Amino acid sequence: MSDTNPNSTANPAVHAMDKNEFYKLLEARKSIRKFKPESIPREVIERILSAGMQAPSGKNRQNWRFFVVTGKKREEYLTYSQKSWLGVKDILAQKLKPSLYDFTERFFYTLGDAPVIIFAYSHNSSEERYHTSIGSVYMAVENMNLACVVEGLGSCTIGAPLEIKAEVDHFLGLDNHEEFKKGELELLCALVIGIPDHNPPKAPRQTDGRVTWL
Ligand SMILES: Cc1cc2nc3c(=O)[nH]c(=O)nc-3n(C[C@H](O)[C@H](O)[C@H](O)COP(=O)(O)O)c2cc1C
Repeated sequence: MSDTNPNSTANPAVHAMDKNEFYKLLEARKSIRKFKPESIPREVIERILSAGMQAPSGKNRQNWRFFVVTGKKREEYLTYSQKSWLGVKDILAQKLKPSLYDFTERFFYTLGDAPVIIFAYSHNSSEERYHTSIGSVYMAVENMNLACVVEGLGSCTIGAPLEIKAEVDHFLGLDNHEEFKKGELELLCALVIGIPDHNPPKAPRQTDGRVTWL
């Protein structure tokens, strides 16, 4: 990997990586909402989780908490996912064209048949500012999205479960979780993961007004 800054010390861990490959990886990531039903081996899920946990975090608290749902439990969750649709459907009806609205509704009902759902929680403590805690977890989530791409998998980050936060907490059995009992755990999003069964176009990126140079 060539280093554009002659004064910097290149990280030897990434020496062998082609710079273009990294940027291509970022571009290749896109939300996948339709999956083949094949299950994903546990060791692959573990690699994805460990990619997540390479993320930076405020005060290095590594305050992410992940709950991995597969198999029968995943099927059970679909009833909850359908409920979360009720919270967003009216807003989406105004925003989406009918075909996309129907696709989105189906996605909420089936989660695209994704065999794996990972719920991402933040452990919020008084030691760290609230927004820092939240940001750290989202950084881990994007690492996981990228790891899915290199694993030949697709993923979609979903905020939909936030519509039914309390029910998701209960569904995951958090009532008996020590951190949850202290009021320190907060659901931030979920990731659905599986082998892609469609190839949607990459959503175009806007640049206008996104960056200000001073
Ligand atoms: C925090 C967050 C919440 C999201 N929630 C949902 C969701 O509930 N349902 C969904 O279909 N997509 C959801 N998405 C995916 C976005 O719609 C998607 O990232 C965006 O349209 C850009 O497309 P791309 O991911 O293919 O680049 C979410 C993404 C983020 C980062």
